[in-house]
Amino acid sequence: MQVVNGVGRIDAMRLLLDDRRARIEPDRRTGFDRRITDVGRAEGDRRKKDRRLGPRRTRDRAGEIDLVAAARRARENADAAFSQFKVGAALETGDGNVITGCNIENATYGLTICAERVAMFKALSEGHRVFTRIAIVADTESPTPPCGACRQILWEFGGNLEIELANLTEPKGKHHLTDLLPLPFDARLL
Ligand code: THU
Repeated sequence: MQVVNGVGRIDAMRLLLDDRRARIEPDRRTGFDRRITDVGRAEGDRRKKDRRLGPRRTRDRAGEIDLVAAARRARENADAAFSQFKVGAALETGDGNVITGCNIENATYGLTICAERVAMFKALSEGHRVFTRIAIVADTESPTPPCGACRQILWEFGGNLEIELANLTEPKGKHHLTDLLPLPFDARLL
């Protein structure tokens, strides 16, 4: 059982994930080939029993990983002392792990990092290279979509991700990244 942020892999989910991946993979291009395998944590690093760090509820009724719940929980860790605008994100990897992130602000303002990029950089730093979905949660009536900088990073490292937006109580829409970033700059153009 591979565990990241308290969310483990269940083999029954593999078919669903493989199917998602099959739909996403054709969008991958030269220069993006590095995302073929997802090495995850090294054997010795795997957390086996400590589930306190992860989301309380990880799967919804359909048996799918409840990414929105994970993002809501991650949002509680946001450090938004300047904007008071807390955001949580949860990124699903190709092998069914969930990596979360929250926004982190600092006194210079400009060095703020969004929840989505925290999640993606955490995932990359742990060896993940294939991603299927990301959930983004803020406490607002209007949906909170990823900012331009995050769209770029999500595209370059995650491809055409499914993006689930939600607030603290309800879903706020699903999108594909290509709809939010229709004419992207990426390694193909270098
Ligand atoms: N923020 C995110 O973390 N993600 C988004 O999708 C939108 C904006 C953060 C950045 C900053 O800390 C605060 O929200 C206000 O912009």
